[in-house]
Amino acid sequence: MLVNANEILRDGKVIQFNINNLEWTKWILEECNRLHNNVILGVSSNAIKYMGGPNVVALMVKGLLMDLDIRIKVCLHLDHGKDINICKECIDAGFTSVMFDGSLMELNDNISITKEVKEYASLFNVTVEGEVGVIGGELPSISLVKRYVDETSVDMVAVALGTVHGYGHMDIDWSLLDEVQKEIDVPLVLHGGSGISNDVLRLFVDKGIAKININTDLQSAFSKAIRNFLETNSDVYDPRKIIGFGEKALKKEVSSKLSVLDGR
Ligand code: 13P
Repeated sequence: MLVNANEILRDGKVIQFNINNLEWTKWILEECNRLHNNVILGVSSNAIKYMGGPNVVALMVKGLLMDLDIRIKVCLHLDHGKDINICKECIDAGFTSVMFDGSLMELNDNISITKEVKEYASLFNVTVEGEVGVIGGELPSISLVKRYVDETSVDMVAVALGTVHGYGHMDIDWSLLDEVQKEIDVPLVLHGGSGISNDVLRLFVDKGIAKININTDLQSAFSKAIRNFLETNSDVYDPRKIIGFGEKALKKEVSSKLSVLDGR
């Protein structure tokens, strides 16, 4: 069932797995369904463009939910929408959640555009995630986080805590997380979940993170498996066989990340 992020977060904590093509989407849905874990499918603007556009993505996800008989709750979420237009396009296409990322803007602009996105999204029961501070850059003060959340009424907030997208150097500010957890009432999102051990991801969850975003670790597992396959099977040309070789590796990575939520 396609739902917004609030309906998933009401049931518990969740992993957002980013999708990049049909196969990933199918395998993530199958694995999460097999393990009875609700899931948020994140899609970046570039991934949306790569797949053909927001309608392709929304219809693909809806089709897979029907044809694979997926029984868990699934949320389709725009990741790091950089302007209001892409947020609106995704909402119009049937996404159930969007992130507006105005983290590089002046705070006042970030707040006012987030509010506009929230106003439009509310008409369609779509949830909105905002970002404060810059993931991989400057960390915010607690007063800034409070002001952003109070004024925008976002449903989830990504606070820069020192993690990075991909495999760069991380310098995590655990005391900022403690402070944010104490002061902020809306679900907290961890970006840059790749390259972090499952034990540390569990610590993030125990300290109040409600949604963990994972992309690069899936890309790495998938491409490693296919590279190995092609090195020893240079005569294979059927694209389904080549891409299909990533299935086991991707599902293994998905189930490993889901284990972070066990008992939490
Ligand atoms: P990683 O690529 O580091 O897993 O980060 C994913 C993410 O935060 C998507 O918004």
